[in-house]
Amino acid sequence: MSVVGTGYLGATHAACMAELGHDVTGIDTDPAKVAALSSGRVPFWEPGLDEVLQRGLASGRLRFSTDPADAAHAQVHFVCVGTPQRADSPAADLSQVHGAINALLPVLSEGALLVGKSTVPVGTAAGIADQVAPTGARVAWNPEFLREGHAVEDTLRPDRLVFGVRDAADEDTLREVYAALLDAGTPLLVTDFATAELVKVAANAFLATKISFINAMAEVCEATGGDIVTLSAALGMDPRIGPQFLRAGLGFGGGCLPKDIRAFMARAGELGVDEALMFLRDIDDINIRRRQHTVDLAVDALGGDATGRRVTVWGAAFKPDSDDVRDSPALHVAAALRAAGASVTVHDPRAVDNARAMFPDLDYAETADEAARDADVVLLLTEWSDYRQIDPTHIGTLVAARRIIDARNALDPAAWRAAGWSYRALGRPIA
Ligand code: UDX
Repeated sequence: MSVVGTGYLGATHAACMAELGHDVTGIDTDPAKVAALSSGRVPFWEPGLDEVLQRGLASGRLRFSTDPADAAHAQVHFVCVGTPQRADSPAADLSQVHGAINALLPVLSEGALLVGKSTVPVGTAAGIADQVAPTGARVAWNPEFLREGHAVEDTLRPDRLVFGVRDAADEDTLREVYAALLDAGTPLLVTDFATAELVKVAANAFLATKISFINAMAEVCEATGGDIVTLSAALGMDPRIGPQFLRAGLGFGGGCLPKDIRAFMARAGELGVDEALMFLRDIDDINIRRRQHTVDLAVDALGGDATGRRVTVWGAAFKPDSDDVRDSPALHVAAALRAAGASVTVHDPRAVDNARAMFPDLDYAETADEAARDADVVLLLTEWSDYRQIDPTHIGTLVAARRIIDARNALDPAAWRAAGWSYRALGRPIA
């Protein structure tokens, strides 16, 4: 098989397919990425992926190339390229998908199966099927649900598999590809193209809704003196609601949820059902409001003016256990405080290089201690476990003033207050 696009999704998928015993060629237009993967180095932080990649390379079943001609022998071609938000609208930018299909067209053979994994607007698969029909190749849609930081686990032990197919023979091909997972009991849903495409965006819309729901409750807690952490725990104990994705704080970011809900709304508009997804605008607004609220809390802690003040930011990645800074809420807040005149020093266990490339105006520190030196206020913006271990008494000796804003509800307020800190969190009582 071939895997076209070797970013977070494609590199993981290629290595995991080799792990399952398949013969895999990963194709990417970026020579640096291909060189890194070919030498056994994952060009991003994903726990456990290095070992799977290196095992695949050593087995001789896995290789990478920039030349689509090297995919010519494959019977199954997975399309795993990115679908970011367009620069000029909320819709999805499908140029990488079209680029991948155009690159594959000359090598597609009669009976080959092109399997889309990228997150696309509903209707895309049908268009691609028309486009490749003259080659005699066929199309299936097989969305992925992997979370960064758990990508290997989510690929080799997924909650479910979804096959969007038009033909029983294509279902059989995918059953063969995923035989090991199906034998292990992974639930399978076989459906049409539209449902397969929609499962993915609907899942992400639901997850985004859950997060913004609890963050809306945090806003109400702030107005009433309620405690969002206890409220969330109580809601999560109802098995109909469940505790996951109810962590209130700075909200969601990353390369998926924000752009996927916007692209979903844009597609609904094209389909004439924009009213059905109107609520997602509120989900997006609630999410973005949390970022501004955190900036406001920081400026407030600085007495109303950030000019020339020293701000420490702990966390740059969009979530812990990732080096991904795409649409990172933490960096959004850091950049806003910088724009307000503060001098901002950022620490992150993994994401500093990516953060620096995107925000060169911010200062970066090697350690959480170094970042906190002489700070007028410290902001915890990404809840890496490293920060939970920090001793408030020790950090208190480094800063200029003991003020902390815990925007992820990750710290123990009592411990920080006992060490003499003014502790503020999102959706929790002031003292
Ligand atoms: C998401 C989906 O979970 C995954 O199924 C899909 O394939 C891709 O998009 P990912 O972007 O890796 O995965 O991150 P996820 O773990 O879902 O977190 C998304 C964002 O929500 C992060 O910024 C995280 O900090 C935030 N979040 C998550 C919360 O603010 N509160 C929560 O309770 C959970």
